[in-house]
Amino acid sequence: MFKKIICKNYEEVSLEAFKVMKEVLETEKAPVLGLATGSTPVGLYKNMIKDHKETGRSYKDILTFNLDEYVGLPKTHAQSYWTFMHENLFNYLDCPEENIHVPSGEGEDPEKNAREYEAELAKHTVSVQVLGIGSDGHIAFNEPGTPFESVTHVAELTEQTISDNARFFEGDKTQVPTKAVTMGLASIMRAKKIILIATGANKADAVYGMLRGEKTIECPASILQDHADVTVILDEAAAAKVAE
Ligand code: F6R
Repeated sequence: MFKKIICKNYEEVSLEAFKVMKEVLETEKAPVLGLATGSTPVGLYKNMIKDHKETGRSYKDILTFNLDEYVGLPKTHAQSYWTFMHENLFNYLDCPEENIHVPSGEGEDPEKNAREYEAELAKHTVSVQVLGIGSDGHIAFNEPGTPFESVTHVAELTEQTISDNARFFEGDKTQVPTKAVTMGLASIMRAKKIILIATGANKADAVYGMLRGEKTIECPASILQDHADVTVILDEAAAAKVAE
C-alpha cells in the first residue's frame, strides 16, 4: 500500500522522509536501516546527522544494510558507495563500523560476495528501507527485466543508468563501472516499511509506472504495489503524472 506525499521542494521532501525515519528510530530499540546512495537521500541523511548533533540521539544500536555497490572499485575509491555512505552519513554518527554493511564489489568473485551479503541480510528484518528510483524505474540496481524473485546478485548496469551516473565520474561514461552487487527485489520486499524518495521531472515517468502502471518487470519499482507499507515522497516535478 502506498502513502503518497507531495512536497514543494527538496528540503520539504527530506524533512518528510526524516519524519518516517524518526518514528522508526523512536519505536525500535535496535532498528535495522536499509540505506541507499545517489543524490536523492542526501537531504534525509543531513537531517539524521542534525538529529544526532542537536538532540543527542545515539545511533550506536542501529544496524545498516546498503542496497548496492559497484563491482571493481576498491571500497575506499572516491566514487564507491562505501565512501559515499561514510562521507554523507556514517562519519557523522556514533554508529560502530561493525554495524555497517555495504556489499563488497572487490575481489575475484563478486557472485560469492553477493551470496554472503544475502545470507547476512537474511538474518535480520529491515525496519525501514530507504529507496530512490532510477529514471528507468530501477530500484537498487535492479534494472528492467530483473525477476521479482531476485535476491542479492551481480547486475549489469544499463546504458541509461551508466549515462545517469556519469555525473559522479566527471561526466565520463567510460569511467562508470558496468556491474554492481545489488540487493534483489525480493530482498527489498522483506523490509517492514519502505520510504521511496523521488525528485525532478526525469523521475515522473518512473513514478507513474510504480504507482499507476501495470505490475511488470519492465518497471522494477512496480513490485512495490505488493508491499504493505510504502511511503512515497515526491516533489512536484516527480509527481507531475500522479498529482490528482
Ligand atoms: C542507490 C540506488 C539507485 C538510486 C537511483 C536514483 O543505492 O540503488 O537505485 O536510488 O539510481 O539515484 P539518484 O538518487 O541519484 O537519482
